[in-house]
Amino acid sequence: MENFIWYNPTKMYFGKGELNKLHDELKNYQKVLLVYGGGSIKSSGLYNQIIEILKTENKFYLELYGVEPNPKLKKVREGIKLVTKNNIDLLLAVGGGSTIDTAKAIAVGAISKHDILDLLLNKYQPEKGLAIGTILTLSATGSEMNPRCVISDSDNDLKLGLGNWNTDATFPNFSICDPSYTITVPKNQTINGIVDIISHVLEQYFHRNENSILGDKISESLIKIMIETGPRLIKDLDNYSLRETMMICGAMAWNGMIRGLSNNGDWSCHAMEHALSAVYDIPHGEGLAIITPIWMEYCARIDPSKFVNFATNIFNVNTENKTELEVALEGIENYKNFLYELGAPTSMKHYQIDTYDIDQLVEKAILGRETIGKYISLRSEDVKTILNKVF
Ligand code: NZQ
Ligand code: ZN
Repeated sequence: MENFIWYNPTKMYFGKGELNKLHDELKNYQKVLLVYGGGSIKSSGLYNQIIEILKTENKFYLELYGVEPNPKLKKVREGIKLVTKNNIDLLLAVGGGSTIDTAKAIAVGAISKHDILDLLLNKYQPEKGLAIGTILTLSATGSEMNPRCVISDSDNDLKLGLGNWNTDATFPNFSICDPSYTITVPKNQTINGIVDIISHVLEQYFHRNENSILGDKISESLIKIMIETGPRLIKDLDNYSLRETMMICGAMAWNGMIRGLSNNGDWSCHAMEHALSAVYDIPHGEGLAIITPIWMEYCARIDPSKFVNFATNIFNVNTENKTELEVALEGIENYKNFLYELGAPTSMKHYQIDTYDIDQLVEKAILGRETIGKYISLRSEDVKTILNKVF
């Protein structure tokens, strides 16, 4: 194993009725900016419950609403202005990854001497941030328990990420994770969440770390649980137990637990997907469903070894009289079938996109780096070959 640091300061309140803990948490703060999206929290009734708690606790609060999926830099800037003008000391994000990520970017942008775009371009690392609380309504990104945040700069069609795993700056101080708030998540977003959670584990499963047995076994369990739970949940969206399983898997998939054990993982599918959603504004989970099997086939032909584990340990592929590559490809075929049966898109044809600028997409995936990915290091020509196959 490589040496690693595992730091996670987020206090998670997990389970039914945990919203009550907001009363206690609010005692630490005076002025709150409530951040939310396009209205799902109003139709579910959660908004009213939160406002009541804010009023009972006698808090000054403002609202920043209308955060879009693939959240935009413009909204972050709007939030930074509100925070600095009103001396806000708690960003309270209620929603999915887009809302939480917006709150994180505001939390660091509001007190940094650098412009938020420069932080997102990783020219400078944020050292400090305002306090962040989250109330999760969609299981997918793990943003409720990690320091990462992904924001779209629509002016330049770029999707940029920030967040340092070794400082407090963008970790939520607390997250309230009640699976009942995710019961209203529609089928398509639930599928996207399942794909995103599995992808986070896959990104960390494909690595070159020696003696990674613990990380690999945790990863395989998480993937198997999601492969078993996902299709049942899609047919039974109101099922609390399945929503509960998905919520805890979402947090565990991307909260640092397996990150260190896998020497930080590969992450090239996410880099390529971020290019797709930056340019075409498609949902993150859909982009991952399209790109991941293509990346897998490409990499398995270079080195099938880890894909053999994937095939045998996750899909019980029989290895008798087969080459490593045949076993690997059979595992990938199983994963493709799983995604297809789940209802995830398999190609960019799904969006009727027939023209594309491949060099521009490659540039946005690579973002100035020589290579991306660690299991197989991809140069721009590799990325180009993979991205050409998504259309
Ligand atoms: O805006 P509202 O009305 O709330 O509707 C949202 C939105 O339209 C809806 N929704 C959320 N909770 C709901 C609900 N609808 C009904 N009932 C509920 N309980 O779902 C839609 C999608 O929400 P969004 O927050 O965009 O989804 P998700 O959580 O999948 O977040 C995706 C974003 O996170 C980034 C992605 O790139 C993308 O921008 N990621 C963030 C990561 C991180 N911070 O660690 C890692 C990920 O890999 C990912 O890149
Ligand atoms: Zn993701």
